Amino acid sequence: MNFALPFAIAGATLLGIASVVGVDWDAPPVETEQVGYRGTGMYVTKDAAEAAAGRANNVVPESPWEADPEGDRASEVYENVQVLGHLSEDQFDQFMASITEWVSPEASCEYCHNLENMASDEVYTKIVARRMIQMNQAINVDWTAHVGDTGVTCYTCHRGNPVPEEVWYRDIEPKKASRGYRGGQNVAAMFGGNSSLPQNALEDYLLGDEEIRVHADTALPTGAQKATTKETENTWSLMMHMSESLGANCVTCHNSRAFNDWDQSPPQRVTAWHGIRMARELNVDYMVGLTPLFPKDEVHLGPEGDVLKIGCSTCHNGVQKPLYGESMMGEYGASLGEKSNTDVPDYGASN
Ligand code: HEC
Ligand code: HEC
Ligand code: HEC
Ligand code: HEC
Repeated sequence: MNFALPFAIAGATLLGIASVVGVDWDAPPVETEQVGYRGTGMYVTKDAAEAAAGRANNVVPESPWEADPEGDRASEVYENVQVLGHLSEDQFDQFMASITEWVSPEASCEYCHNLENMASDEVYTKIVARRMIQMNQAINVDWTAHVGDTGVTCYTCHRGNPVPEEVWYRDIEPKKASRGYRGGQNVAAMFGGNSSLPQNALEDYLLGDEEIRVHADTALPTGAQKATTKETENTWSLMMHMSESLGANCVTCHNSRAFNDWDQSPPQRVTAWHGIRMARELNVDYMVGLTPLFPKDEVHLGPEGDVLKIGCSTCHNGVQKPLYGESMMGEYGASLGEKSNTDVPDYGASN
């Protein structure tokens, strides 16, 4: 009784504070799945409500009609078709109707075209879209080690938005440390799973190719094997981004008793390894080059003027396999499942 009273008061005080500041408790139920041998603590835990919302947000849209692959080629029918000329006219028209639904359902064809002259390239979004088609084909052809036969379409990233919601850019807020050296830390890192880990770690790994290492082979950090506390924090910030993007735990890809050991890791880690290299290539070879085309505003570029970039969440949107692994390649294999023109256009200066 004598002991219980102070605890009861402390508890009641905490509850009081919580109701005043409006703390949002993350309540059970959670779904737990065993992914490793008994006794190894390999359990993946998911919030049931979040998982249900994830399912609702990841439904593949229906195609507008079934396209006929026979008939004249788009290159013969139209004037200025540079990438998709090998499609039949019906396949081409169906593809235009589909990307309109995927990318600009509100503005419709006009988002990319001058309706008086469909062949003209005067609207910048059409030029971006042409490069996006090349990028999408490269994902499905060159990166089967990551996307398998499932593949991706514009919808995987865009989901009815001209600018995908899940992107990253150089994050500079707050601009100045209130006091002393902050080193990009000790604020909620938007792209590091809202942790207080470094803010711009994705620049090192999904644009640059820094070593993703915590475990060093030598006693002291030397040469390429530098795994100092600073690099370690960057690695962890990336790991937070990856976990959040997939709605996953660390043990989805690691055995927590030996984070570095590939032999003890679930196979998902290998898929993720390829995913890191894929995201890096998409940003370096496609996104950065498009920078000069975009309007200089906050919708299309980051606050530092850099292009909006692709991270794991751009495709995954909070689930372990984008769109729950349902493939759209059956219908869009002819347009997005093969490479038809790999010329790299020159848009002028890049950042
Ligand atoms: C997201 C951008 C985008 C939207 C939206 C879009 N298009 Fe296109 N359209 C393109 C691109 C890119 C090309 C060129 C493809 C190529 O070079 O292979 C093109 C080419 C065309 C052409 C060929 C014109 C020619 O003579 O060269 C036609 C016709 C066309 N689109 C019709 C449509 C229609 C109809 C709609 C609306 C239902 C539409 N497009 C919506 C990007 C778009
Ligand atoms: C892997 C992800 C990804 C895929 C797949 C993808 N896009 Fe994009 N797209 C982006 C990102 C990121 C941006 C935003 C770049 C920016 O604004 O800085 C973008 C921008 C665009 C824009 C410019 C919109 C605007 O308002 O400026 C168009 C048009 C576009 N994409 C069309 C397409 C089409 C068509 C496809 C399919 C052939 C496609 N995208 C596939 C990631 C993707
Ligand atoms: C989607 C899969 C995935 C998830 C989730 C994930 N990791 Fe990783 N992790 C990897 C991959 C892949 C590498 C190796 C990267 C490389 O070499 O390019 C790695 C590397 C690491 C390393 C460096 C190991 C070394 O050799 O020094 C550590 C430590 C680590 N992860 C910790 C974590 C922690 C902690 C979490 C949870 C917050 C986590 N990871 C979540 C895939 C994942
Ligand atoms: C261009 C879109 C795209 C991007 C970007 C992307 N992924 Fe994926 N990822 C996919 C697709 C599609 C699949 C499903 C492949 C399949 O069905 O076999 C997948 C599957 C995976 C899997 C396997 C899941 C399982 O349970 O088998 C892991 C792990 C994964 N991705 C991690 C990542 C990580 C980590 C990143 C960022 C570094 C990333 N992905 C970026 C499209 C993408």
